[in-house]
Amino acid sequence: MKKLFISLVLVCTMFRSYADEGMWLPMLLGQQVYNDMVKKGLKLKPEQLYSINKASIKDAIVIFGGGCTGEIVSPEGLIFTNHHCGYGAIAAASTVEANYLRDGFWASDKSKEISSTLNVKFLNRIEDVTTKINNELGNLSGAERTKKYNEIVSKIIKEVIGDDEFKDAVVGSMFKGNQFFLYVYDVYKDIRLVGTPPESIGKFGGDTDNWEWPRHTGDFSVFRVYTDANGKPAKFNLNNIPMKPKYYLPVSIKGFKDGDYSMIFGYPGGTNRYESSYGVKLATDINNPTLVELRAVRLKYMFEQMKKDPAVKLQLASRYAGIANYWKFFDGETRQLLKFDTYGAKQKDEEAFNNWAKGKPEYENIFSDYEKIYNEWRPYAKLRQYLNEGIFGSPLIAYVTSWGTLEKLLAKKDYKPEEVKKAVEKATEARKSFLNNENKKSDQQILAAVVSMFYSNVDKTQHPKNFYEDLFNKYNDIEQNPYKMFAADVFENTMAFDDEKWKSFTENPSAATIADDPAYKVAHAFLNNYLDNYASKYSDFVTKNNDLGRLYMKGLFEMNPTKMNSTYPDANFTMRVSYGNVKSYVPKDAVKYDYYTTIDGVIAKYIKGDYEFDLPSKLIELYKNKDFGQYIDKTTNKLVVNFITNNDITGGNSGSPVIDGKGNLIGLAFDGNAEALSHKLAFDKDLNRTICVDVRYVLWCIEKVGGAKHIIDELTLVK
Ligand code: ARG
Repeated sequence: MKKLFISLVLVCTMFRSYADEGMWLPMLLGQQVYNDMVKKGLKLKPEQLYSINKASIKDAIVIFGGGCTGEIVSPEGLIFTNHHCGYGAIAAASTVEANYLRDGFWASDKSKEISSTLNVKFLNRIEDVTTKINNELGNLSGAERTKKYNEIVSKIIKEVIGDDEFKDAVVGSMFKGNQFFLYVYDVYKDIRLVGTPPESIGKFGGDTDNWEWPRHTGDFSVFRVYTDANGKPAKFNLNNIPMKPKYYLPVSIKGFKDGDYSMIFGYPGGTNRYESSYGVKLATDINNPTLVELRAVRLKYMFEQMKKDPAVKLQLASRYAGIANYWKFFDGETRQLLKFDTYGAKQKDEEAFNNWAKGKPEYENIFSDYEKIYNEWRPYAKLRQYLNEGIFGSPLIAYVTSWGTLEKLLAKKDYKPEEVKKAVEKATEARKSFLNNENKKSDQQILAAVVSMFYSNVDKTQHPKNFYEDLFNKYNDIEQNPYKMFAADVFENTMAFDDEKWKSFTENPSAATIADDPAYKVAHAFLNNYLDNYASKYSDFVTKNNDLGRLYMKGLFEMNPTKMNSTYPDANFTMRVSYGNVKSYVPKDAVKYDYYTTIDGVIAKYIKGDYEFDLPSKLIELYKNKDFGQYIDKTTNKLVVNFITNNDITGGNSGSPVIDGKGNLIGLAFDGNAEALSHKLAFDKDLNRTICVDVRYVLWCIEKVGGAKHIIDELTLVK
């Protein structure tokens, strides 16, 4: 353990170039970073942030579900996270009759809390495995390195978790593969929904306001961790008991002002701050605009159906929100990358690097190699996006692709009937869950649209062989749109929707039946076209890109040891802490954005019955009566709703606690701002803001709007 400490301190101690930029490893803050935290207003000791032996803030932070953060806020395992993180679970718990997504929900006591399929993970320990891994990797590069790396990592993980289903482990690759840490987690699987505001609070402003400040969203939901009687992680069981956590966050309702200290612990998913100029250009030229145009079409067809029918809305809500979130993100990212000329800035950095690298054989060709691999891959980039975001953007096509393994199995002459029986059962299960989530009407329109767009927008030489010729031959009624006829035919005749056909297939499974299925034919044509002709080009590109990135980082450390040794590794969904301040900003000439919004702004945005800007009548009534209780801001005499800080976070941090200088919870981070959506590739120190929901608004929504005072009683309030 000690050795780990020393080697890591080197990485994270010295200075860094920009104030407030940085997603630091909480176990390795180093003196310099810690001193800077104190300068900004931190009043805690390092071991109160992170300690191996004693309870510390890190013990209150969890990975929530697949890609969010949550925090423990009571001695009974209560979790706060974002509404958009609980969204899937809330939608799944809802029915048209008991519509918690629409109306909100508060369990009147623990017995009414609703079980979910979510899990949460607590960080148990960290180990530096750099030497272990590097010893085995040696000088390997390219595909061999990737293969070896994956082998070592699975071995390491297997060693630590064995077959314990309540443990998980990952190896976090830092600085583009120059350093490796093993993270071991305890996985808790009995997670229950305690309460949520109605969507008109939790997602107030919808996609119109998403990624925007000024904001007025009550983006929170409340869950609870349960354990077995001995306090150990367990599957759902009615006899389980609320978790007794090692640590939980006190909640401050004292308020704060512009410039006050703020610190965010959580799990930022991914950044690529040392991306090459070539990568930036590929994103703005091809990858981002292609994703955006395809998602816009899928969203349009889904939304038409969701708007019409509350059952469809519930069914598609979570998927829709996910697609919409990164549709708007990548649109904004492109805009900001172009506006900031991130490409030009990267080119300048690269020129400086090249000057330094001259005469150093290890480094001098990095950027000419980058140019080469990007030139080689670029012609196919659009095709790949069209496959992932277009063709497989049809849920039907994505689903039937999974039949491929079964087809292969059945095609073997000597297959074992037992094996086939199992595979067919699995496929039947998968079909059930597909049908549960499937809205045929929108999907059929999506399929027609994406197949048509693929035809028009992807280079003709890259089309699947004969696919379009056959399509035009078959659907040649000049009165009708061939793509619509094609999609209608697929939806009418695939066994995916036809119980009779599916039954007869399972009774007598054959590879030919799968191969002849009209939906499978589409999946097969597009996927195999890619696999046969382009997949190896892509993996070449990726492995070479990785090699170059790793070398570039290594070179940067040599070129500028002082600066680089003070830097933080890119986000990779391992625990980080970001520190900074509550802070207003100037988004454009002559405009200043204040650091907080209030309930007045919520009411000003209210549009009765609107899809995005409706409000619960209870909230309006409380507003009229000025019934804000102890949650009112003493300085402004208003109920503060959202606020902003200059913390450096990204997707995955959603739900993260915003913590004041004394370690109290003051809010939950839930978004980034439009003016800095290029933050994954380049941090802008003037414009970057984290959008947070004020914990006082959270508590007001729980107690006053939701009538769930008993939840407040569980918390430790700092007044
Ligand atoms: N942009 C937020 C994030 O990525 C998600 C916000 C969800 N709300 C919404 N209207 N889609 O964390």
